[in-house]
Amino acid sequence: MPAKLEKLFEPIKIKNLPIENRICYAPTGKAHCTEDGHQVTDQAICYYVARAKGGTGLLIVEACIALPKYAWLGRILGCWDDSQLAGLRNLAEAIHAAGAKAVVQVTLGLGSQAMFPIKGEVVAPSDVPSRIGKGTAPRGLGFMDGVVGTTPRPLTKEEIVELEDAYVAGAERIKKAGFDGIEVHGCHGYLIAEFISPYSNKRQDEYGGSFENRLRLAKNLLHKTREKVGADFIIGFRMSGDEHIEGGYNIEEGQRIAKELEKAGVDYIHMSSGRYEVWNRMFPDEEGTMLDDTKAIKQAVGIPVICPNIHNPLTGEKALQKGIVDMISLSRGLIADPAWANKARAGKLEEIRRCILCNTCLKTVFGGFSIRCAVNPEVGWERFIPEYFPPIKGR
Ligand SMILES: Cc1cc2nc3c(=O)[nH]c(=O)nc-3n(C[C@H](O)[C@H](O)[C@H](O)COP(=O)(O)O)c2cc1C
Repeated sequence: MPAKLEKLFEPIKIKNLPIENRICYAPTGKAHCTEDGHQVTDQAICYYVARAKGGTGLLIVEACIALPKYAWLGRILGCWDDSQLAGLRNLAEAIHAAGAKAVVQVTLGLGSQAMFPIKGEVVAPSDVPSRIGKGTAPRGLGFMDGVVGTTPRPLTKEEIVELEDAYVAGAERIKKAGFDGIEVHGCHGYLIAEFISPYSNKRQDEYGGSFENRLRLAKNLLHKTREKVGADFIIGFRMSGDEHIEGGYNIEEGQRIAKELEKAGVDYIHMSSGRYEVWNRMFPDEEGTMLDDTKAIKQAVGIPVICPNIHNPLTGEKALQKGIVDMISLSRGLIADPAWANKARAGKLEEIRRCILCNTCLKTVFGGFSIRCAVNPEVGWERFIPEYFPPIKGR
């Protein structure tokens, strides 16, 4: 290993969970589950096994819906019913057998940002519609530029409590399935994030208004979940450090939010940026755009902070050396090359198949189709490639 990549391959512990290196797979919806019942498929398992065998330390499994009652994407993972346990258990076992740790990102849905082929009613904290900010569509998604979403129906208090309880039950299923933890999907302006944001939360009751009230849903999810899953199970939180829009929260408020989350028992923070109004903040056209926000959030908390949108191992190494981040995560980089980590460890950086940031992945998934990649023809077909079959323990 070249001396300059030492930090990237230094082990780390998140609470009591030892992780082999600082490289995470960022949650990435792939439309690999069944249309009916959102069950784990062999394709989903082999996709993740490829990234685990490729040397990634921690896989953060894609957004998994805890209550499919409102607007949501098809063929994305679910944890609302015991019938989903067997598939989830197979997935956890396969990732562990392939050598990585695994947490699942649990979500309550799209909220007002339900702008793709979706089923279900569009709900949110308040009746504020989302819009794709003009000129902010990520590369290849220009056809969505300026689109305004359906005006959502504000959730009643009873419905919010129902969502909280479903969330906890979903997290318990993730634990029962054998995963190492969950990550709360509190970023990107989706439903949980919409409660935190002053841009989208105009409620007058205890779930809106003041800073404390806007954090109530997130904190209730954390406290109620912790009560059920126990002290050792990892609970991470993914937040946009800064919403980067007028009327939204800025990085100073992001730091306050992170501190409150740490107090509420979160074990790590996974960063992201923006919401649909500044869409290319979420899926940037270049790498390293979230490093400054990550640095600011890391200054505010003592728990590990993960920075996404790293594509070049040297960029990740440099950020780790500087102490700006504790771990890095990759979505599109690991779609393009599942062996990114192994190649970096071996010092074969020129062999890494680089993502060209064309967003073919996003276009296929948002269209409801299995993920595809312009530079990696194996993506979506891993179930037919023996190299990516799960290792069977004891053989
Ligand atoms: C196809 C696709 C699906 C994604 N699904 C999720 C998701 O389920 N949850 C989430 O928090 N982020 C999701 N993201 C965002 C990524 O986790 C990541 O933050 C973003 O792509 C920027 O990082 P990158 O430059 O490494 O791709 C998705 C990204 C892509 C490309």
